[in-house]
Amino acid sequence: MPTITLKNITKQFGKGSLAVDKLNMVIKDGEFVSLLGPSGCGKTTTLRMIAGLETPTEGEIYFDDVCVFSDEKGINLSPDKRNIGFLFQNYALWPHMTVRRNISFGLENMK
Ligand SMILES: Nc1ncnc2c1ncn2[C@@H]1O[C@H](COP(=O)(O)OP(=O)(O)O)[C@@H](O)[C@H]1O
Ligand SMILES: [Mg+2]
Repeated sequence: MPTITLKNITKQFGKGSLAVDKLNMVIKDGEFVSLLGPSGCGKTTTLRMIAGLETPTEGEIYFDDVCVFSDEKGINLSPDKRNIGFLFQNYALWPHMTVRRNISFGLENMK
């Protein structure tokens, strides 16, 4: 896994709703990281921005030293070019499989 770096990542939905406010974090290869917080604090929005499903209002995202998003540099790699994925909370999951099997299923199919 590449090192994922978020720099001042911000997402504003419309005028009133600041979903993510200048988030800075580094996730290194092999690290197990949990985003913990109350409903509506921006966890899903953060994952969607890393995957490229949501466009940040501000900031930069790097996979190792490759910039996949930067508002200043005008970079926004589409999800299919990021080679990264995530499982949704309650959509497209196999109910008969464990969490581990749900996560490994796609990776095993990609060999
Ligand atoms: N597509 C959207 N349009 C407008 N507001 C949104 C949208 N998605 C999320 N939000 C708002 O952004 C905030 C963070 O939501 P979300 O990332 O889903 O939180 P969490 O996953 O931590 O529960 C909430 O206030 C939510 O209402
Ligand atoms: Mg969520």
